[in-house]
Amino acid sequence: MNIVLTGFMGSGKSTVGKILSERLGMGFADTDRMAEKIAGKRLVRIFSEEGEAKFREIESQLALAVSAMDNTVIATGGGFVLRHENMEAIEANGAVFRLDVSVDSVIVRIGHCTDRPLLLSGNSREKIARQLENRSEAYKRADFTITEVHGAEKAAEAIMERIRSAKLCAVIRNREEAEKAQVLGADFVELRIDLMENKVEIPGIISSCKVPVIATNRGPGLEELELEKILEMEMRAGDIGKIVTTDKSEEEVRVIFSLLRKAKEKNFPLIAFLMGEKFADTRVLSVLKGGFLAFASVGEPVAEGQMGFMELKRRLGK
Ligand code: S3P
Repeated sequence: MNIVLTGFMGSGKSTVGKILSERLGMGFADTDRMAEKIAGKRLVRIFSEEGEAKFREIESQLALAVSAMDNTVIATGGGFVLRHENMEAIEANGAVFRLDVSVDSVIVRIGHCTDRPLLLSGNSREKIARQLENRSEAYKRADFTITEVHGAEKAAEAIMERIRSAKLCAVIRNREEAEKAQVLGADFVELRIDLMENKVEIPGIISSCKVPVIATNRGPGLEELELEKILEMEMRAGDIGKIVTTDKSEEEVRVIFSLLRKAKEKNFPLIAFLMGEKFADTRVLSVLKGGFLAFASVGEPVAEGQMGFMELKRRLGK
């Protein structure tokens, strides 16, 4: 999973990106600097000698290259957002934070710089305002907007805060893991009823948990009748129920919908869905994409690609 920074020239992407990468212990990549390496010359010369179109080609190649990276903070160039394919590539493996900036700040910060090719000729206020306006729609495509604050430190802190606000859910299978989850600071526990060897432990676990319990069953494919029984069991074992299945047939979608209706009639909060690809990163990414809970196991991983609870905490900067 990556953290991607977008925004106009002078919005602070590179400075904020470096601070974030240090704080979060993540790598750092800057597409402008990478483009200079590939071309073997500074941006101004790429633009003047090879043209903007060539630079945009390199930038799109880099969009693919940085998307293949992991655990990296990526500062993009100001025009990176203009190509749909660049955004598609980075969104697949990253949360996009847009740094807002006003025309006045752009002038103060980079008005006199000679290394911004697009500002070189006729570096006027009107020109900057026009460019910012022309791109405003493209910049809107971000998961989060960081409104302009005074200084890169504060912008980095705003991003860290957003990441830290994620709630952590510890996946557990027995009493011992339930205790450990609470010591480790889980906000929720997910009790995998289907994986429990000793179901008589359920009442004891529920009464010992100080955090909300999500009672979960996960199946490849599940029959409707069986699901109703499972729902009842979850209502006894958890504050919230969760049923996940991995078959993706239309029939199963219908069954899941009817189950959600039943749970609603009984006033029981139920999470029910069909699980897609099991990439480890989706567990962290979901929160950065606006989700509410990030899951990790307390004991041995219980699903392919699942990470440990401490690893999740670290990746969320907690
Ligand atoms: C550009 C912004 C620059 C650089 C290139 C084009 C743009 O990046 O990619 O000069 O189109 O806005 P910075 O935003 O880092 O200055």
